[in-house]
Parts: sequence; C-alpha cells; structure tokens
Amino acid sequence: LEPGPKAVMITLNGYACQRRTPLQHHNTVLTEALLVLAENAEFCEDEGRNIAFKRAVSVLKALPQAVRKMGDLQGLPCLGEHSQRVIKEILEDGKSREVETTLQSEQYQAMKSLTGIFGVGVKTADRWFREGLQQPSDVARSGQRLNHAQQAGLQYYNDLNTPVTKAEADVISRIVEGVVQEVLPGAEITLTGGFRRGKQTGHDVDFLISHPEEGREEGLLPKVVSLLETQGLLLYQKTTRNSYLETKEGPARPPSNMDRFERCFSIFKLERPRHSTSPEEPPQAACEESPRGEDSALEQLAGERQDWKAVRVDLVVTPVSQFAFALLGWTGSQLFERELRRWAGQEKNMSLSSHALFDNKRKQYLRASSEEEIFAHLGLEYIPPCERNA
Ligand code: CTP
Ligand code: MN
Ligand code: MN
Ligand code: MN
Repeated sequence: LEPGPKAVMITLNGYACQRRTPLQHHNTVLTEALLVLAENAEFCEDEGRNIAFKRAVSVLKALPQAVRKMGDLQGLPCLGEHSQRVIKEILEDGKSREVETTLQSEQYQAMKSLTGIFGVGVKTADRWFREGLQQPSDVARSGQRLNHAQQAGLQYYNDLNTPVTKAEADVISRIVEGVVQEVLPGAEITLTGGFRRGKQTGHDVDFLISHPEEGREEGLLPKVVSLLETQGLLLYQKTTRNSYLETKEGPARPPSNMDRFERCFSIFKLERPRHSTSPEEPPQAACEESPRGEDSALEQLAGERQDWKAVRVDLVVTPVSQFAFALLGWTGSQLFERELRRWAGQEKNMSLSSHALFDNKRKQYLRASSEEEIFAHLGLEYIPPCERNA
C-alpha cells in the first residue's frame, strides 16, 4: 500500500501575540472576504463582530498553507460559526453572497469613502450618510462644518488615499532625521508602524523620537514642527502634549488604546522625484517617459498634476525609559497590539500600554529596555516585527 498524503493537523495558539504572522500568506481570497465583513461591522459600530472577524482573519494569515476544505480548519482557534459559513461558501462557490452584497451596498460604499477622509471617523461618516452624503465631493458641496483635520482630509483626499511607498517613507525619514538633529543633536528617530513590519506600502509613516538621556526629549516636538513649517514641509499638523503620569497604584487611568505621548499627527508636503535621471532635462522629456504620458500631460494642462504629494506622518516623542514600550506599541499591527494587551490582562493580571507594563498583583512596574524583555515579562516567545502582521 502506498502511503497516502498524511493529514497534518495544524495547531495554532489562541492569542495572535502567541503566533507568527508573516506579511505574505496563503489565504488572501478568504482573508480579503472576511475583512470586508469586519470593516462593515466597524461601520455598523458592532465592535464585537468587527474583532471576531479580524481574529478569524489573523488565524488564516498564520496558516502555513492554503485552506482547501473545511476539514483543514479543524482544531483552529477563533473561527466562529459565521466566519466558517463564509469560508465554506467561498471554498464551494468561489465567492460569498454576503460579501458580494456588502460590497455592493450603498451604505458600505459610502462609509468606505467617507471614513477614507482623514479626520473622519465612523460616527461622523454615519451621520453624513444618513443626511444623504455619499462621497467626499458631496461633503465639500454640502457646507458641513469641518474641523481643520477634516478640511485637510478633503483637500488632499486623493493623495492621502494613494499608498505611501517604502521609498517615500525613506525620503521622509531623512527629512525628519535632519530636522531632529538640527533641533537636538544626539536625538534618535525610529521608523515604526507597518514599514517596521516589512510592509512595502502604508497609509502613513510612523516615527518615534527619543534621546538616550532621559528628559532631553522634553519640549523637542514643537521645535521640530516649527522648523518643518519654516521649511514649507507641512500641509497640516496637530501637536498634542504629553499627559502621561505614573502612580504607585499603577497607570493613572485604566489603560486605553490611546497613549499619552507628546505627538504630532501631520501631513507632509513631499516633493515628487523627477522622472528623468538628469535634472537638466526639460519637463516635456520627463513627461514623454512617463508610462501614461498622454494622461499626465492632460493633467498638467488642467493644472491638476502637482510636483508634490501629501503624505500622512505621525511623530511620537518618548522618554528613553519608555522607549521599548512605545516601540512595541507603535509597531502594530493593531490586532497584534490588542491581543498583547488582552494576553497581559487575562492571562497575566498585568496592564500593558505603550508607556509601561504594570503587574497588578505585585503592584509594581516591570521595566524593560528592549521588546525582547517585554515579551519575557509577559511569558511570551519573542515575535519579531515582520511576524506581527496579525
Ligand atoms: N497607534 C497608537 N495610537 C494611535 C494610532 C496608532 O498606538 N493613536 C498604533 C497602532 O496600534 C499601531 C501603530 O500605532 O500599532 C501604527 O498605526 P497605523 O499607522 O494606524 O497602522 P500601520 O500598522 O502602520 O498600518 P499602515 O501601514 O496602513 O499605516
Ligand atoms: Mn478616518
Ligand atoms: Mn502606519
Ligand atoms: Mn500612524
């Protein structure tokens, strides 16, 4: 008898922070479908369903091979009845009716494009949708009262919905590095967020700024921002001061998702690289070389093509004593972070934030100067950034 292919049952741990989740995986058809339902649940402010679908997605991302039949899912955590139903339909028919219907629904489409406006969350988008607005141009025409973030969000809508490339992130890194050095020599910047996890594109660029000597980072950000502004590099910025306080009883407030670092949510004005290698070449030559030369020319004639791109940038300042926690907290993914905090609370009776780790039983802070130490405090195997794409 020929030995048939062995049925290997894959086992995965229940928390995303106990699993290795690479960027590239084998189940994108399934995860993309389930993410539509997760997103739709978010639009309906159903957080329970949103998180349930996201957990299911993260389990599929961690699988070493493609799911071919329902039996492949046996023993896996986080796959609820609803997710399984969707998966089954896709395995059998190639698509899910619920996902198709959602994608075509007016509400989903409107919420998607309205929440795509920087500064617009689900609540605002939902109110606008119920007032009959469906897309950014409707908002612009409607004469809604908009805050500064939303005004910028509308103004730069197209750029801000065009993925930021790693190359663009690197250019911004050099700009930020230069300005930070000028303001405080010896300060250090670290690229975090999706790019630290190995992504090739992102919706923004995230940086941590710190100084090896505790306290030297204080007051740094307003100076950095004003220098960036002087150089004409900012289209929008909102700076918030540090409001973090430690007490003997632990973190001053129950740890929320939002940290309390000094930070700046900004929009950079990034020069577009010229198409030609020689800076002497006239613009027409560059235009002819572009892959969609005619369209580009038309855009230029219409005055629509700018020689710069608006890019979202987050700057966060951390005292060096909190750096490891800030790095772990700002590297993401969002689900990975959420699962780390859930693990800490439910399994270890600890409170984890981007500032600190507090042991609720022993009533003491657990210090750390590296991400590895934090994982160790939490009793977790270390997961490198590129495997935190839960
Ligand atoms: N984050 C946070 N507080 C915020 C915003 C973000 O702690 N107010 C954290 C998120 O939890 C995430 C990280 O910062 O872990 C990066 O967030 P974000 O830029 O939104 O996501 P990315 O993973 O970088 O994805 P993208 O590439 O689309 O930017
Ligand atoms: Mn938004
Ligand atoms: Mn990011
Ligand atoms: Mn960000």
